[in-house]
Amino acid sequence: MAYILITGGAGFLGGHLAERLASRGDRVRLLDNLSPQVHGSRGLEALPIALRCDCEFRRGDVTSPSALDRALAGVDAVVHLAAAVGVGQSMYRIAEYCRSNLQGTAELLQAILRRRQRPRGEAPRRLVIASSMSVYGEGCYRCPRCGPAAAAPRSREQLAKGEWEPPCRQCGGQLTPLPTSEAKAAEPHSIYAVTKLAQEQMALNFGRAYEIPVVALRFFNIYGPRQALENPYTGVVAIFCARLRAGQPLLLFEDGEQRRDFVSVHDAVGACLAALADATPAGAYNIASGETITIRRLAAAVAEALHRPLRLAEGRRYRIGDVRHCMADISRARRAMAYEPRVSLSAGLAELTGWLDSQAPPAGEILGLANQELRAFGLGG
Ligand SMILES: NC(=O)c1ccc[n+]([C@@H]2O[C@H](COP(=O)([O-])OP(=O)(O)OC[C@H]3O[C@@H](n4cnc5c(N)ncnc54)[C@H](O)[C@@H]3O)[C@@H](O)[C@H]2O)c1
Ligand SMILES: [Zn+2]
Repeated sequence: MAYILITGGAGFLGGHLAERLASRGDRVRLLDNLSPQVHGSRGLEALPIALRCDCEFRRGDVTSPSALDRALAGVDAVVHLAAAVGVGQSMYRIAEYCRSNLQGTAELLQAILRRRQRPRGEAPRRLVIASSMSVYGEGCYRCPRCGPAAAAPRSREQLAKGEWEPPCRQCGGQLTPLPTSEAKAAEPHSIYAVTKLAQEQMALNFGRAYEIPVVALRFFNIYGPRQALENPYTGVVAIFCARLRAGQPLLLFEDGEQRRDFVSVHDAVGACLAALADATPAGAYNIASGETITIRRLAAAVAEALHRPLRLAEGRRYRIGDVRHCMADISRARRAMAYEPRVSLSAGLAELTGWLDSQAPPAGEILGLANQELRAFGLGG
């Protein structure tokens, strides 16, 4: 039995992880500031999780040294999930994202070090940190002329003209997307992505210096029950579900042919458990389903799972900073930590809809909020 601290433990992934850890007999402590954007009016959303899985809940901020000192007492390992998570929003709430994600991680590492330096020195022996596919920017591509190729970020002008596919950086030719491995150079396209890359690099460097194994999990798009439907900045699956249930059409950015990888929250939890195992080597790992799907096909799959008619709103809209394609190569996680995704997209969507049936639909007007805000800052077209 281990004693695990989960920062951001009242959130979507944190809650599921807490339940799995507690059900296998670990002791679990949660540290979460119950950010209003995530928890809304259900400010005590954390309590059902704490009660369900019998864990300790501490309301506190990861930027607070004293909250961290208390939260770290006696724990064997930390899973650091606390973060502000909206990609688009990070582009206009820059200081807030840097405070939670960068300062929060810095304070956590500093607090671990403080514990290590104490006379009896009991500090956590392992750190797992949530990184993101967003660190890559565009995924890997192949050019028929140049071979493996990097894609140039798309300019505002290209997007305005509806030129969705990024050109080859060398010859300007058309590219084919490929699965992206951890060897791809990071090229973050948003403030959020910059903070995720910095978080993982800070933690990995800290781990090497102090011989604490650190595992950074580069999650692709996670979906599943208890995903925040009222938060207009969270994942596309939640947004599609909320809009379908409100009888609204699904907004496809660009032409809907962007490729992504959607991974069930249960598989993301499985990756956290694997990362906590002593045998897992330190490093960064892609965590995804290994299957790729276009956003257009995802829209159809979600509508089918919810038994709602599919209505699409296609206005050739776009968001500055969006990547065109990012698909995961998960062979490193498979090899090094025996990670194996188990939930197919159809099974995962069926589970999600079962959960949705027990939920009140979110208020209609909140759903357009994120897009209005992006346009107000000149970040959407
Ligand atoms: N959900 C995804 O698709 C996805 C993909 C890639 C990476 N991630 C990463 O996984 C982690 C968990 O994501 P999630 O989907 O569960 O998000 P979430 O928003 O549901 O959970 C994050 C939790 O952190 C808390 N939090 C935020 N700022 C805090 C602070 N300063 N101090 C203490 N608590 C704070 C929030 O209240 C929330 O409960 C995040 O680090 C996120 O960047 C998620
Ligand atoms: Zn080329």
